[in-house]
Amino acid sequence: MSRSGSSSGREVILGIGGGIAAYKSCDLLRRLQEYGFLVTVVPTPASLNFVGATTWEALSGRPVLSEVWQDVPSVAHINLANRADYILIGPATADLIARIAQGRADDLLTNVVLASGAPKLIVPAMHPQMWLNPSTVANVETLRERGFIVMAPEVGRLTGSDVGQGRFPETAKIIEQFQEIVGWNSDLLGYRLLITAGGTREPIDPVRFIGNRSSGKQGYAVALAAVTRGARVQLIAANCELPDIEGVEIIPVETTADMARELDERFFECDALIMCAAVADARPVRPSIEKIKKNELESIELEPNPDLLASLAAKKSLSQVLVGFAAETQDHLENAAQKLLRKNLDLLYVNDVSGGAIFGSDMTRGTIITRDGGEIVVSEASKDTLANVLLDQVNFRLSLPNV
Ligand code: C5P
Repeated sequence: MSRSGSSSGREVILGIGGGIAAYKSCDLLRRLQEYGFLVTVVPTPASLNFVGATTWEALSGRPVLSEVWQDVPSVAHINLANRADYILIGPATADLIARIAQGRADDLLTNVVLASGAPKLIVPAMHPQMWLNPSTVANVETLRERGFIVMAPEVGRLTGSDVGQGRFPETAKIIEQFQEIVGWNSDLLGYRLLITAGGTREPIDPVRFIGNRSSGKQGYAVALAAVTRGARVQLIAANCELPDIEGVEIIPVETTADMARELDERFFECDALIMCAAVADARPVRPSIEKIKKNELESIELEPNPDLLASLAAKKSLSQVLVGFAAETQDHLENAAQKLLRKNLDLLYVNDVSGGAIFGSDMTRGTIITRDGGEIVVSEASKDTLANVLLDQVNFRLSLPNV
């Protein structure tokens, strides 16, 4: 993911030191992604003896470098440092802690640490004698004085038969500590979000309909993320076969007219409307009450559906934030920019659906474009991650003073 204009607030550099606990950070990486973070892994060269770059690339979906001598024109250490909203290093070995404490820059990770002002969490793991050695104790103290958060390793069985303080903490504990640093848990408390999901269907007769391939997964992901972050969420779900979300009011609908009615009823009360649903562009003028015979199905007279989002945007108050979703197969960004203006939106997420990609998938790829010309490129992320990145942008706009 690259940025211009505004920060996603969710970019994490996951640094891996050369300890056996490196394999546990595969789980840590997954959990960070589930919590909506966009993670770039930077392993030290030594750590590649435990877990190779291929594994990190496969799990993170992003390129992985460990030396400054790789991909030199990209100036990776500065780019990564600028991109990072947070740096989490785990496992951190005694050597890595010593190098960071001394301000050394002899591999990519230590370069990034030096060049970044982002909050940094260090999760050590090593043999108890190394942890308790006065050199390590002094180095940890130095780091804490400089603002690094250094977790204490846990007491327990180590790689060999030894027992003592040095174990890498459980993933859940690291995530808990990390979330405390990030502090975004309830940032949408008090806001009312109206979200649509799925695809509307327009009946041709009692059996057939005009519809689309939207599964509703993205809308449900946004609703789940929003309620998790404290928002009051109403989800208008068009033809979705997905489990209910605790705490979210779900309003099932079938047609565009149903959706329009439910939106009209609720729009004036919401702080933000996020229209993930794929709305059928047209509907049969006269749906048949009886099933149409095969030989009479030569043509169906259609009329366009109203643009729900555009018509609501025309009546929106200054403080309301409106988000659209666009599925494009060509000229994504030009089309998206025009669409954002035409529909009078604050944000538009455009995804590339050429070749049937994204519909029904748990993953997405696209660009969030903002009214002020910003672009946030989401290169390959789960729909949960996109949901949180998008909600960061919504939250930012909700907190702006209304001029
Ligand atoms: O114009 P397009 O269909 O690409 O726009 C997509 C966005 O507009 C989505 O957010 C969708 O929910 C919304 N839309 C709408 N009413 C329509 C068509 C699209 O609200 N008739």
